[in-house]
Amino acid sequence: MPLLPEIKGRSLIEPEDFSLLEMENLFSLAEKIENNKDYLRESCRGRLLASLFFEPSTRTRLSFEAAMLRLGGSCLGFADPGSSSAAKGESLADTIRMAASYADAIVMRSPKEGAALLASRYSEAPVINAGDGGHHHPTQTLTDLLTVRQLLGRIESFTIGFCGDLKFGRTVHSLAKALARYKNIKMIFISPLELVIPEYIKGILKKNNVEFNETESLEKSVGEIDVLYMTRVQRERFFNEDDYIRLKDTYVLNTEKMSAAKEKMIILHPLPRVNEIAVEIDTDPRAAYFKQAKYGMYVRMALLASILGAL
Ligand code: NCD
Repeated sequence: MPLLPEIKGRSLIEPEDFSLLEMENLFSLAEKIENNKDYLRESCRGRLLASLFFEPSTRTRLSFEAAMLRLGGSCLGFADPGSSSAAKGESLADTIRMAASYADAIVMRSPKEGAALLASRYSEAPVINAGDGGHHHPTQTLTDLLTVRQLLGRIESFTIGFCGDLKFGRTVHSLAKALARYKNIKMIFISPLELVIPEYIKGILKKNNVEFNETESLEKSVGEIDVLYMTRVQRERFFNEDDYIRLKDTYVLNTEKMSAAKEKMIILHPLPRVNEIAVEIDTDPRAAYFKQAKYGMYVRMALLASILGAL
């Protein structure tokens, strides 16, 4: 009997597009795949994923492509919009109509907020948002939640500290919104004043009675945190290079700062890291960001197999 018939054929644009139960089913499926690498191995044979990246990516694109190939399917697409007809002035709507007529599902990343939602309106095939500007990144959220679930053993009753560029960081926006649906999560937003979390996210947290506070100090708050979510300052979304240079090294997590952290705290980072986590932290058992990147592939396998109805 298919496990997730309800996800088949659906787009994923924002984290709330799937119910908590649907997400839990995806996490269980990802866990099964992690434990048995042959599980679902040929389930997507003959199916095509179009991967359209109008903005740079390493992990998201490669993990989607690896996921599709591991399921026995194939990928086509571009990693550089300069090599697509977007460079000739083709509209997103037209590009998507074409891709949807060639492929069974589309994964796309764009520098423009709302691009994936727009694409889904023109697409016959399901569209997966792999990042739309400073807005959302729901499959990173699935990755982050799966990592927490596997490493803490639960997605409830913990304090999460988001640190860095909370204004432009789409992974932060998506994860904070998603966690607002879980029980007993406290959030601490650590950022310089120029890069605070957007008001609309705070509005959602207030509506859901989520306890949160904002601070500029990582040192003062690190001792309270169970999950520390570090982020890089999003250079490409700044209007002014001088502001970027002034803010880029506001937070650097190093051994000294970690000495005040809980023994069981986990450190996440969507990656790429620039300077915000010192390399010396990589060998700290609390560093979970490389494991997190691997979970990203398993959860994307679960997602693709479910959306393509291959279970
Ligand atoms: C993130 C993104 O693209 O938003 N990267 C990723 O997908 N893992 C984070 C970032 O670029 O800083």
